[in-house]
Amino acid sequence: MTRPSILISREVYPEVLARLGQHFEVDYRAVDAPLPRDQLLVRLADKDGALVMPPDRVDAALLAACPQLKAVCNCAVGYNNFDLEACSRAGVMATNTPGVLDDTTADIAWGLMLASARRIVAADQWVRAGQWDGWKLKGWLGQDVHHATLGILGMGRIGQTVARRAAGFEMRVIYHNRSRLPVEREAECRANWVDKATLLREADFLVLMLPYSPAAHHAIGAAELAQMKPTAHLINLARGGIVDDSALIAALQEKRIAGAGLDVFENEPALDPRFFALDNAVLTPHIGSATSATRMKMAMLAADNLIIALTGGRPPNLLNPVLNPT
Ligand code: DGY
Repeated sequence: MTRPSILISREVYPEVLARLGQHFEVDYRAVDAPLPRDQLLVRLADKDGALVMPPDRVDAALLAACPQLKAVCNCAVGYNNFDLEACSRAGVMATNTPGVLDDTTADIAWGLMLASARRIVAADQWVRAGQWDGWKLKGWLGQDVHHATLGILGMGRIGQTVARRAAGFEMRVIYHNRSRLPVEREAECRANWVDKATLLREADFLVLMLPYSPAAHHAIGAAELAQMKPTAHLINLARGGIVDDSALIAALQEKRIAGAGLDVFENEPALDPRFFALDNAVLTPHIGSATSATRMKMAMLAADNLIIALTGGRPPNLLNPVLNPT
């Protein structure tokens, strides 16, 4: 019996390759860079499934060019690279990797909050430039994180994990989400639901953790930034496009907010070059889930989803359950 054929669109761990090799004929592209769109279409044209990464766009055009395709498994929790409706129409199962990256992504929210509040990156650059001429009472003053108000926009698993960590800093935690958490969960997170205007007005640190959707496009734009405190810091670990980068750059240039810690950008990796001149922004290259242990778990989970999907089961992280209601 012929085994299903799959594409792995870019470099993964040997363990993941070995696991998939036990089940499938594998077309493996061992390159750690996105596969150009035209090549993705060609290599996927005769495949039953694919393990793909966030830049790989799975849309109606791709699905039309790949009639054999039954499953696309994203190695990421975010799946704005998938047109889910087109997948469902084409009968293609789509999966993501929720759960395994919550702690890792929550950790870096704290890294960015502290780096932004205490100006750690700019101070490091200043020391390396040989500019340090001694301790000063008013040198490199930042802001306290402890006892401040943490505001979280998007209170899914990762948002809740960020909230739980706030107890160590004895912070007040407020959040806004379309649906309110059950009271027991709010108590566990020590977080109170507020409307979006209150969140913007009262947060000292505003952490964005909502998934991208067209409705969330520019959820933070000029009008929202204008409602924030001049001492507030914006932390974006969600997705590019949720913040209007141009409006944010203007707010940071004019010091209308104090700082930002940004891991995701519009049109990344081609950032608006005005970001580079800002001394009140910490910029990281979409590394929210980037630890060895977590990236291995994500890749293994994506592989498991693919194996189950192509061997007749219901993958645990199926995004379009309409295809497989059992
Ligand atoms: C995710 O899993 O969505 C991350 O943003 C990818 O690192």
